[in-house]
Amino acid sequence: MVEILPSILSADFARLGEEIAAVERAGARMLHVDIMDGHFVPNLTLGPPVVKSVRRVTKLTLDLHLMLMDPDRYAPVFIEAGADQISVHQEVCLHLDRTLRMIQSEGAQAGVVLNPSTPVSTLDEVLDVVDYVLIMSVNPGFGGQQFIPNALRKVRALERKRRELGLQFAIEIDGGISLENVADAVRAGCDWIVAGSSIFHTDDPADTFVRIEQAAREATSIKV
Ligand code: DX5
Ligand code: ZN
Repeated sequence: MVEILPSILSADFARLGEEIAAVERAGARMLHVDIMDGHFVPNLTLGPPVVKSVRRVTKLTLDLHLMLMDPDRYAPVFIEAGADQISVHQEVCLHLDRTLRMIQSEGAQAGVVLNPSTPVSTLDEVLDVVDYVLIMSVNPGFGGQQFIPNALRKVRALERKRRELGLQFAIEIDGGISLENVADAVRAGCDWIVAGSSIFHTDDPADTFVRIEQAAREATSIKV
């Protein structure tokens, strides 16, 4: 089943608990949490204490997207803080296979993220290890950027490989997703679809979540 993951990067951090509760009541099952270190990307977000607090107020699956130069050091810390799944960027992992297995051994699902400029083929040797692959459809660092259409070509290529190899990993997409293009992402083969500003920068995030999810469901039902 396709899941829409609200990204709290665009939520009002002073009312974070309420914002999360609203999308949870609207039917969200997973929440996307962006962790930025000001080095891998030119922005800073939040750390383990905030993840710990979020963990206390929600049962949603916490999907952590680590935009950090040193994910090996911090992945265990965030798992301890309550993350259910952790994705690391291919671009910073010298020993990607080891990092993914370490995340799994610490008890979380392990994902790998590709920047828009990183080819899908760089993952060929770890596709049988990953629990999910996240295709960035913007350059990471900020919410509210414009969708890069080439991401859909990458999703289709990955979906084809998954089918050919008979693997089960999930395909996630992140950046610039809205009511207008969510159906395209579903038809390309995405299972998990992140949406930040298109949900939280609206008057009624819960209602917007429901409408985006509805559009995703309709696209699923007409997928051949
Ligand atoms: C960007 C982050 C995204 C961000 C997406 O670096 O990884 O998760 O929240 O925001 P929107 O949906 O507004 O593009
Ligand atoms: Zn993200």
